[in-house]
Amino acid sequence: MKNVIVAAVVVVAGIILTSNITSSLEIKGHPDNNKCIGECYAQYVAANGNIVEQEERRAEAAKAMSPAELGKSAFVPCQACHGAAGEGGVGPRLQGRDASFVSDALHTYKASGTRGAQSALMWGVAGPMSDTDIANLGAYINTL
Ligand code: HEC
Repeated sequence: MKNVIVAAVVVVAGIILTSNITSSLEIKGHPDNNKCIGECYAQYVAANGNIVEQEERRAEAAKAMSPAELGKSAFVPCQACHGAAGEGGVGPRLQGRDASFVSDALHTYKASGTRGAQSALMWGVAGPMSDTDIANLGAYINTL
């Protein structure tokens, strides 16, 4: 009997403790912060626009950007191998390379062509690139 009481006390204490922890995670005014529907969604749309409007704004902003600026954001995944400023790392140094060098290299990799011993590392990177992507990256790397 004593064991049953101890077990019951432990279970009740556990429930009280867990409900306190979860309730402290909620955002005031939004009883369930996993869902943003109704008033929460209306507030979100008023502040940020709906998804379509956000996409349109993003496309407008991209139109106003220069090729080098677009290339700069496309360069983010390259930094892991080529260094934050193209100074080199796993991949060769890109600083000082001009747009036509970059364009030739990326078009070769896109066509699964071999340039150096580690070209295979670049095939997956260049494969999905469009001509515009390559031109933008060339314009940015030209500025490094
Ligand atoms: C997984 C690592 C890795 C990533 C990510 C990567 N590269 Fe490379 N890159 C390499 C390696 C390794 C080489 C040398 C390949 C060879 O031997 O031909 C290379 C070669 C190049 C070259 C030719 C350089 C030269 O001196 O011949 C260019 C240009 C280039 N990468 C651009 C990029 C751009 C732009 C991105 C991002 C969109 C990128 N790379 C992402 C590893 C990477």
